[in-house]
Amino acid sequence: MAKEQLYTICSRCQELLRTLSQSRAINGDAFEALSKRIGDNRQADILVTNLLFRPMIVFLKPKYYRIFMQQHQDYTKFPMIVDKRLMTKGMIMEGGAKWLQQRRLLGTHFEYNKLINLIPMINDVAQRKLANLPNEVFPAMNLASSITGEIVLKAFFGEDIAQLSLNGQDPSQCVTQLITRFGQLTTESRFFQIKRALLEEKVFSLFPRKIEQDLYELNTVMLDHMKKAIKNRMEKLKNCKNIEHQDYLDVYLDVYLNKNDSMDPPITEDEILQQSITLYFAGTETTANLVTTACYFLAENQLLQEEIYQEILEVLNGELIITAKHLQNLQKVAGFLMECLRLKPVAPMLISKQALKDLYIKDIFIKKGWYVNYMVLSNAQNQKYFSNPTQIDITRWKADGTLKDSTIDPFAFVPFSAGGRNCIGQYLAIIESKIVISKILLNYKLKLNQKIAKAEWIAKFTYGLSNQDYITWEAR
Ligand code: HEM
Repeated sequence: MAKEQLYTICSRCQELLRTLSQSRAINGDAFEALSKRIGDNRQADILVTNLLFRPMIVFLKPKYYRIFMQQHQDYTKFPMIVDKRLMTKGMIMEGGAKWLQQRRLLGTHFEYNKLINLIPMINDVAQRKLANLPNEVFPAMNLASSITGEIVLKAFFGEDIAQLSLNGQDPSQCVTQLITRFGQLTTESRFFQIKRALLEEKVFSLFPRKIEQDLYELNTVMLDHMKKAIKNRMEKLKNCKNIEHQDYLDVYLDVYLNKNDSMDPPITEDEILQQSITLYFAGTETTANLVTTACYFLAENQLLQEEIYQEILEVLNGELIITAKHLQNLQKVAGFLMECLRLKPVAPMLISKQALKDLYIKDIFIKKGWYVNYMVLSNAQNQKYFSNPTQIDITRWKADGTLKDSTIDPFAFVPFSAGGRNCIGQYLAIIESKIVISKILLNYKLKLNQKIAKAEWIAKFTYGLSNQDYITWEAR
């Protein structure tokens, strides 16, 4: 390895996490300091840190992370969400034959031509939620997660289950609360980091503090809610020989009830439960953050808001329901969403991967057991790929969300990751965000709430705005 290419930016994981929390306190943005340090060290190929007690290599150049993403079979994932009851058996965390089986089972249902069947439902949910805003001023994240959560519930579980409430609360807001609280605990509390490193899953049961107890209980409520919903559907489908697939849960239960003998490895009820939680978590918070960031940037840039609003009016031409054809023509909305992801990537880092064997990625040696990661911010604002990198420029993008300049390395900026384990829900996220942003602008003019001096961008498990009422929603 050429020595001058190795630059240690953070020597310890706690330092990496401390960089995030200090940067949030000083700059109001958890990733600003790290982004700047990477920007000031463009010659560096990797960032070296550690995760718990092992080294972690974060690749900064596309020539390395392209290979890392393509050779995903060489790694397992670090159990980021310590509570094993939640997502261990779902598609995000599984590996090997089980993951492949899950991806094949659900993969075709996340293809664009299948997802367009969800467009009327997405219109409907967005329209209804936007007609019932609580006030002129309220946190966009609450509205966004309530929309994206209901969409995922309806797509995965169907109408009946989506209507259920969680102890009288909107379940999607519970998901957001859970991810934010748990994410902040992980990134900000040194006590929790050390306790978790030593105790792993027992962190919740040995000497639990109130916050740990509360989180564990919230997880239990969420699990019970899902379990009940799945049982109900199973009862309904038990005697059906030809199950018509209305949603993803039907796909799973059909295989479980009628074809499980031919599945290798077989599907279990616990897997169905954890897969459901996985999709619910992955689909709700991520897209809600993107929509919230988009609302904030629109409120901040009145000229841009007007330009995008005019495109929406023109493309819809008086029609109220947004169709797949409209979506294809919303080029500025598409470019704007990509710019939001570039400036404030919802998933700024991947879940860390642990090498299953000694290996080389080009000239970089990775020892079995070491962790590896990729940071979207390593190049998202790199002058080499994006001129005026800190400015929103929606003209960089084509309507399909790819860059107009075909000379730019396609791996320079991959907000949904790439290779075999890229985001299965990326087309759903973009379809949803385009519809929700269009509906918002058709109904409301967004302005910044002058009472809040500065936005706070926080590291949860995702990266986005803190849950404050940054925006004034003025009816058009
Ligand atoms: C703006 C929205 C979203 C972003 C930025 C995003 C980003 C990502 C990223 C970076 C990964 C790779 C994670 C890793 O390897 O560590 C991923 C995986 C995944 N995402 Fe998304 N995601 C979004 C929305 C969604 C939605 C709407 C769903 C589903 C309803 C979803 C479901 C998944 C699943 C199941 C995986 C695991 C895929 C596999 O390992 O085969 N995501 N996502």
